[in-house]
Parts: sequence; C-alpha cells; structure tokens
Amino acid sequence: MGTALTDHFGRTATDLRLSLTDRCDLRCTYCMPAEGLPWLPRPDMLTDEEIIRLVRVAVTRLGIREVRLTGGEPLIRPGIVGIVARLAALRPRPVISVTTNAVSLERLAAPLAEAGLDRVNVSLDTLDPDTFKTLTRRDKHARVLAGIEAAVLAGLLPVKINTVLMRGVNDHEAPALLRWCLERGYELRFIEQMPLDAQHGWDRAVMVSAAEILDWLSRAFVLEPEGEAVRGAAPAETWLVNGGPAASGGGRVGVIASVTRPFCAACDRTRLTADGQVRTCLFAREETDLRGLLRSGADDEEVAAVWRVAMLGKKAAAGIGEPGFVQPGRPMSAIGG
Ligand code: 5AD
Ligand code: SF4
Repeated sequence: MGTALTDHFGRTATDLRLSLTDRCDLRCTYCMPAEGLPWLPRPDMLTDEEIIRLVRVAVTRLGIREVRLTGGEPLIRPGIVGIVARLAALRPRPVISVTTNAVSLERLAAPLAEAGLDRVNVSLDTLDPDTFKTLTRRDKHARVLAGIEAAVLAGLLPVKINTVLMRGVNDHEAPALLRWCLERGYELRFIEQMPLDAQHGWDRAVMVSAAEILDWLSRAFVLEPEGEAVRGAAPAETWLVNGGPAASGGGRVGVIASVTRPFCAACDRTRLTADGQVRTCLFAREETDLRGLLRSGADDEEVAAVWRVAMLGKKAAAGIGEPGFVQPGRPMSAIGG
C-alpha cells in the first residue's frame, strides 16, 4: 500500500464519503428549494466503473477503510445494488454504509444487504406524517417507516436515525423521537442544522443547539455522557440513556454539534462528489478534479498522488460562525452528507 491520506495537522482520512447523485426524491426545507436544483449534467457524473476505480485506488493505495454512500439520495441511483456488490468485492474490503432518506429502502434493503451493505443511517425528522409533509414537501412518511423496518429485517444493524430539529417545526418532538427509537433499538443522533442549504436561509440565532436538545432530553431521561474515548473520530457525542443499551428501556443517543462544538480536530474524512471532485471538508472552498484525470488516461498511482496532494489542503477547521465564514458554493445535496 502507498502512503495514507494525511494532512498538515496530523489527521489521516480513513473514511470516504462518496456521493452517488445530487438528486433527491424529497425536498427538505433545510436543504433544497421546492423546485429542486439545477442537477449535475449526466455526462459530468462518474460512471459506475469510474466510481469503483476511484474507491479501489482509495482502499488499495490510500488507506481508506470505510465507504459511506451519500447523495442527494443515493438509493435513487439506478446502479446502487451493483455498486455495493462491487465495493464489497474490493480487497481490502471496506466497511460499506449508506445515508438515506429511506423512501426506497423497503424495496432495496434486502438486495443491498445481500450485495454486502453493512449499515444504514436513515434521516427522519418527525414522527408526524403532516409535519413530514411540511418539512420534506412530499407525502412519504409511511414509506420511510416501512423502509426502516425493512432495514431491520434485512439485518442492516444497528439502524441509526439522523434528526435535524428546526425551531417551531419539529423541535417539540425531541423526547418523543428518542422514546420511539429506544423502543425499537435504533440509535438516534440529533444533528445541528448547518449553513449548507441551497437557499442560504440558515440563521445561527434560530438554530436549535446541542445544549438545548440535551436540556430537553434530560428532563425526560437519565443521560450519562459516554466521553471522548467512545467519541473517537465520530462526530457524535453520545450519552447512555436510562442505564444504556443493556437496560430495559435504555439505549444511547448522540448529538452532532457541528456548529457549537465542532469536531474538526478528530476528522478522519475525505469526500468525493458525484461528479468526481475531491473535497477535504463539507465547508471546503476548493475541490480537486479526479474525473478529468481519470478521463485523460491517468494511471492509478497518478490518481492517488493527486488525492494525497488534495488532502494537504485540508483546513484545520470549518470555521462556521467565525468572522469571514463563507458558505461553500455547493449545497449539502451536491456534496454528500
Ligand atoms: N444541516 C444539518 N444536517 C443536514 N442534513 C441535510 N442538510 C443539513 C443541514 N443543512 C442531514 C440530512 C441527513 C444527513 C445527510 O444530513 O438530514 O440526515
Ligand atoms: Fe433529500 Fe436529504 Fe436534502 Fe432531504 S436533506 S432533500 S432527503 S438530500
């Protein structure tokens, strides 16, 4: 194996976030406008073949051990099951997970598990079908719930649920969402809303903070911090709830405080967009083109070398909320969550 993906601050990327498409079948208000976005032109998107080649370079030459498929909504990419099967056949075999809105998961959970998918992270912001409709501008709450159940049946465990709370929309649901997840053995993680929406409507003053969420939860549950040792490079800070997973009615909850308590110093990620651009951070302002390199006939070692150089440009921190912070040019849906 070649040299790992290391930056100037001593961090090494072992986790690749791979966006399979910038399109989505929902329109969450904190992500996209109702009419959608100008999608990437098809010829600019990596083909299945190009994706496999880049991940092969990443696992054989760059030390990547985990591949998370994201979007947009990754399950709407037509070749997803075949892509997962080919990723699972790579050696060393990466751990493969997907971050999905679960709309298509009822149909795809079993074939994806069969193909080698290890885990799913499902985005679910509400237990109420009407709130879901307001929030995502689509009437698909029942399909999401069915998708989550299908993931459990297919053995894609533990199911993790990601929730973004918005003031006056679903913030009152925090304890109910946690109770619902505990009853079913799902691991819930609340994510602070980040300035990554296409409409630039994010407002720190209105954002629901990790501190508030913990305050609400601790009125209804006994929370015990798990501490830094467990957090590691994972962005979620976690708490044992009511005695932890072994206890009846217990479990675990996480909070990803990307804005108020960023975890940049422990970041172990590199990102690849659906059009083949390396990004060192969600909030990076620079991208490195691997698609052009592939299409101009570069060999694997040249691709690996360019990826390593891109990693050296990784900034120490995202700097959300610092003076001079500028939201990246691409919205979250075109970067990959
Ligand atoms: N801030 C925080 N989380 C977001 N997500 C999408 N947009 C934002 C945002 N602006 C979440 C989705 C999904 C994951 C990929 O990121 O809800 O769970
Ligand atoms: Fe789609 Fe995820 Fe954006 Fe919602 S947050 S519109 S599910 S990409």
